Amino acid sequence: MLGHLPHLAGRPLAFLDSLSGHGDVVRVRMGTRTAHVVSHPALVRRVLTDRRSFDRSGVLYEKVRALLGNGLATCPNAEHRDQRRALQPAFHPSLMDRYAAVMTAETAALTARWRPGAVVDVTEEAFRLTTAVAVRTLFSAGIAPGAAEELREALEVLLRGVYTRVVAPAVDRAPSPSRRRYRRALTRWRTGVAAIVAAYRAAGVDHGDALSLLLAVRDEHGRALSDVELGDQVATLVLAGAETTSSVVAWALRLLADHPGATARLHGELDTVLAGDPVTGVDLPRLPYTRDVVREALRLYPPAWAITRTATRETELAGKVLPPGSVVICCLYLLHRRPELFPDPARFDPGRWAGADVPRDAWLPFGLGATKCVGDVFGSTEAGLAIAAIASRWRLTPVSPRPPRPVPRIVLSPGPQPMRLAER
Ligand code: HEM
Repeated sequence: MLGHLPHLAGRPLAFLDSLSGHGDVVRVRMGTRTAHVVSHPALVRRVLTDRRSFDRSGVLYEKVRALLGNGLATCPNAEHRDQRRALQPAFHPSLMDRYAAVMTAETAALTARWRPGAVVDVTEEAFRLTTAVAVRTLFSAGIAPGAAEELREALEVLLRGVYTRVVAPAVDRAPSPSRRRYRRALTRWRTGVAAIVAAYRAAGVDHGDALSLLLAVRDEHGRALSDVELGDQVATLVLAGAETTSSVVAWALRLLADHPGATARLHGELDTVLAGDPVTGVDLPRLPYTRDVVREALRLYPPAWAITRTATRETELAGKVLPPGSVVICCLYLLHRRPELFPDPARFDPGRWAGADVPRDAWLPFGLGATKCVGDVFGSTEAGLAIAAIASRWRLTPVSPRPPRPVPRIVLSPGPQPMRLAER
């Protein structure tokens, strides 16, 4: 009845690993539905770039759109070009310095609360950081610290709640504390964003942040985004950016804690380059090993571990005929662990990237083609800065030596990671 779902829910990574020997297109049963899993680089490229045969449609996208609205990360092909054009300026390289300043300030605020000897859940801490950065970079002006924190808290409940509602919509049928919490958070988020949008519109000032840019967007008929469209864009930007980035930070911190050799190299680089100063955006280009730690964590545990598409017409894939409506899952987790692309693929080895000649389409944590992540530089910068800031000051030791048990969500999260803090 449930097909492969119990395996995917119970031991997701072991289940995914078990698929790797079954050919280029592996059929899995998800409840009553069948999905086709691909991980060969050429097939991943084909599915993500052949937009006449594959679209971001189907049950998953419909549910996320119903919950969070129709923004850039969830819209179907037909609307994609206009939406991408509208949002791209918010990710212009010239803005990255400003965003990096927010990232370092928020990381400093987060770690200022840490005390030597205390135990923190780094997964929660990383999520707190990226949701705070999301709120602060989207709307930089005019929100009191209390209101920003309230918005961030609402966001946290929403992002966690969306996944539950996608896989188990029944949770909303009967009244429950979790349903009440989710609905309260949704109302707080919507009214909070609407109030900020109204304040921005009334002030008419360009604050140089993502919301100001979105307010200035005009389509070819000179039309601005409506309040609903703005709200949708803001929600999907945060949805796409916060948990992905927090997940890579949490994985990287855990991988470093389990690999003292890599940690020693990282400390060596940070101590030499930063010489005791706090890291800033301009330092990242001079921290190649730090960047390779992020790259390697993204390889082993790509937050977007499965990108799904639905066939919009009959099409052939690796000799198999797929009828319209077929679901294809591009599994980046499996792609990144193919031994012909990455020798000894399960080993965490940031050193493998130095001067490496990476085969084409072997490393695709940000996807490919027209829908490739618009926040790739933003996310990599945020993760690199967070890891540099934390590792220059703190040594983290997992409370339990047991390997993490990844939690199957839309994002491949390491699950709770309690770690003890020591000052370096
Ligand atoms: C390390 C962190 C991140 C990872 C691994 C990641 C991964 C991805 C992937 C794989 C896609 C392609 C999805 C598809 O083709 O359907 C994507 C798209 C997207 N990402 Fe990211 N992302 C990250 C960070 C961010 C950040 C920080 C933001 C925004 C601030 C963001 C916003 C988006 C948006 C809006 C899209 C949709 C792009 C489009 O359809 O044109 N992402 N991301």
